[in-house]
Amino acid sequence: MIEYLEIKNFRNFEQQKITFSSSMTFLEGLNGSGKTSILEAIYFVSLLKSFRASDDKLLINNNKSFAKIVLKTGDNLFEVVISDSSKHLKINNKVITKMSDFISRFKAIVFSPNDLKLVQGLPGFRRHFMDVTMVQLTKKYLDNLTVYRKVLKERNALLKHLKPKDDLTFLKIINKRLALEADQIIEGRMLFIKKLNKSFIERFKSFNPKDRVNLIYQPNSPLNSLEMILNERFERDLVTQSTSAGPHRDDFLIEFNRKPAKEFASQGQTRLIAIALKLALVDLFERDQDVVILLDDVLSELDDDKKHEIEKLFTMKKQIILTGTKSEYKNVKTINLDRKRN
Ligand SMILES: Nc1ncnc2c1ncn2[C@@H]1O[C@H](COP(=O)(O)OP(=O)(O)OP(=O)(O)O)[C@@H](O)[C@H]1O
Ligand SMILES: [Mg+2]
Repeated sequence: MIEYLEIKNFRNFEQQKITFSSSMTFLEGLNGSGKTSILEAIYFVSLLKSFRASDDKLLINNNKSFAKIVLKTGDNLFEVVISDSSKHLKINNKVITKMSDFISRFKAIVFSPNDLKLVQGLPGFRRHFMDVTMVQLTKKYLDNLTVYRKVLKERNALLKHLKPKDDLTFLKIINKRLALEADQIIEGRMLFIKKLNKSFIERFKSFNPKDRVNLIYQPNSPLNSLEMILNERFERDLVTQSTSAGPHRDDFLIEFNRKPAKEFASQGQTRLIAIALKLALVDLFERDQDVVILLDDVLSELDDDKKHEIEKLFTMKKQIILTGTKSEYKNVKTINLDRKRN
């Protein structure tokens, strides 16, 4: 549970401290007042990534050389300093040198208008969704993913130097190592999508009982097959100097009435699919009381029935932080960012 957040030189804020309620907090303010930025700072502490910017530099206030986030939860004090070239991390005043020792010590799930990309966007967006969630669900997944990425980089570097007639022993060793890690990732994702799908179907049904949705995991290479595929494809990979198969090319299909939602669902349906997917995600964290839920501007455009479905989240014993231009909730701690001075 977050007690307070302090940010310095983060986005439009030079200096700001916000104290949160243990249940719900509503951040209200005009467009551009910094509501999303505050959620972004909180989320950054969880995953050391923003949910809307791929480049950390964008987070640093214009003309400043660093940004700082301090987040105090019931148990821990997290500190992140982002500068042009690096990130400095501390937990309870102790320096943390490995990002993997910091990532997901604090957990957050964000609902944002960007979530539509889960349905409409490229596979990379859905892979990212699987990764950031699974990392928060199991530490082992982050380790697998980190090793996989490292070996993949080694393989791609090797491909740049090899010629077809060279000795391929080392490449074969790398193929084997990559496949070993890949299988763990694929198995993890299979299980994750299976669990998520169960909740997703139910969540969507309560929005819309008429239509049916379904998730299908689409691994780029089936379980226990990558080593063989990589060994077979090495000539092609030598030409492109990249690895053409593996979980870094995975995706999952979202079906709407048995057809791809991406090409078939209407705009409104697409929104509901994205929200149902996120609600399903919260179900997976059901027993994890420490997850903080960040709702960025998701309620404003929904009709009352749909809004009510999301409001059911409020009865879960989780800390929720919402944003919008005007709070509609009387008994909820409201922080107005227009009135709060930097
Ligand atoms: N690195 C930066 N330095 C200074 N200002 C920035 C930086 N990045 C973004 N901004 C500005 O910060 C402001 C806050 O943006 P943010 O998206 O948090 O607002 P918001 O309250 O969520 O608005 P909306 O209601 O439109 O969603 C914007 O005016 C934006 O242009
Ligand atoms: Mg916003």
